[in-house]
Amino acid sequence: MIDQFISIAEVLGYLKVENISDIEERAEIIQEFLNRQASKGVGNAYERYLENGASTAANVITTYPRATKECIMWCVNHYLSLNKNANVIEKACRAMKHYGTGCGTSACSCGMTSLHKEIEARVAKLVGKEEAVVFPTGFTTNLGGISYLVGDRDLILIDGESHSSMINGCKLSIAKKVAFKHNDVADLEIKLKKYGNECENIFVLVESAYSMSGDLSPLKEITALKKSYKFYLYVDEAHSFGFYGEKGQGYCYEQGVTEDVDFIMSTFSKATAAVGGFIASKHKYCGILRWGPMYMFQACLTPPDAAVILACLDEIESNPAMIRELHEKNQYMRGLLNAKKFNLGHSQSPIIPIMVPSPAKLLSVVDDLYEEGIYSTPIVYPAVQKHEGRIRLILNLAHTKEQIDYTVEMLEKICKKHDAPCFLSETKPESNTVSHW
Ligand SMILES: Cc1ncc(COP(=O)(O)O)c(C=O)c1O
Repeated sequence: MIDQFISIAEVLGYLKVENISDIEERAEIIQEFLNRQASKGVGNAYERYLENGASTAANVITTYPRATKECIMWCVNHYLSLNKNANVIEKACRAMKHYGTGCGTSACSCGMTSLHKEIEARVAKLVGKEEAVVFPTGFTTNLGGISYLVGDRDLILIDGESHSSMINGCKLSIAKKVAFKHNDVADLEIKLKKYGNECENIFVLVESAYSMSGDLSPLKEITALKKSYKFYLYVDEAHSFGFYGEKGQGYCYEQGVTEDVDFIMSTFSKATAAVGGFIASKHKYCGILRWGPMYMFQACLTPPDAAVILACLDEIESNPAMIRELHEKNQYMRGLLNAKKFNLGHSQSPIIPIMVPSPAKLLSVVDDLYEEGIYSTPIVYPAVQKHEGRIRLILNLAHTKEQIDYTVEMLEKICKKHDAPCFLSETKPESNTVSHW
């Protein structure tokens, strides 16, 4: 059997290139690494792709060796499995016929269509804010939103496990940035107290459901701090918009804290199966966002993508039972994994991580899972600390009971075979900051 994955030592060596400033040297190191992989007959992550698009059962194509394998997929973020929904596809095709393909320009030079305007109005109403601003991707929503909202004399307090797009949004801003311990409200309060007098405004940035750990944010406790401290709260709902709240309003709504959240952000690439992103807020703050370069100088979302978003919102509105069913499946799968004593950290959302604090064993487990037709992306450095690792299972509505049962059975068998330290009694708690901050 040819190893699908390169050794952890090579991964770590490869990742050191991020610290090399000379472009020629960096290019050479990456090229040498890719050549070495090719000569060993080992593919890298970018050489695996799908023959029939994202689905809970998909055909994965690998370049080294050249092969196609049907796998149960656990790395797709289409929580409600709407990317292959017939109504959604039909509406996207109709939109493409009517509006054409791209928009050709940015929103401020007339790139939007009536579909874009409808998304802005509908999303604002759904999440409970005055207005929403739509961006072409979730990543640039955070880049543009955070960097343009936060002023030079402001302070950013960001949860230590935040997504790369938020971190890079912070990096674009020259404001002071301080990370607080993941989901640690006491640490946030210490930092609000410590830095509060050193700046003009404070922006607290969190995710409602964290992408790497599946942890939910203690939003009630965080918003309660507003009684004692003055700050703006920015919540990224990428992994909750569309499937928390009875109509998919999101986790801020479900927790009853919408009023106290100043900016609700989400991507459209997950539950709504397209691309794009939005920030919903007060009318006056949306004006600031539209003035920013990511909005002003970036081409708009394509009309077919806009139609997909609206069609997905239609599906969620007309069939809210989908949301209940997804959460029931989440409880079912968690029940099976808990019964086998897998360490799932503090996760609760449909992102189910299995903690494997041995990167080398993790890669062997993931490799064997692939052989058995189960595809999951190993989460290693820089997504987590160098000595840590996770198997991340992202549950979608279309996952069947049989797929769940088989995956859990194989996980137990393969983890035991490799003596992977992923069971509760064997693992130490993971640290609570990611390394790439
Ligand atoms: C929490 C979070 N925010 C933002 C993004 C960026 O969204 P997109 O990939 O749709 O650009 C992601 C993507 O995975 C994410 O997980």
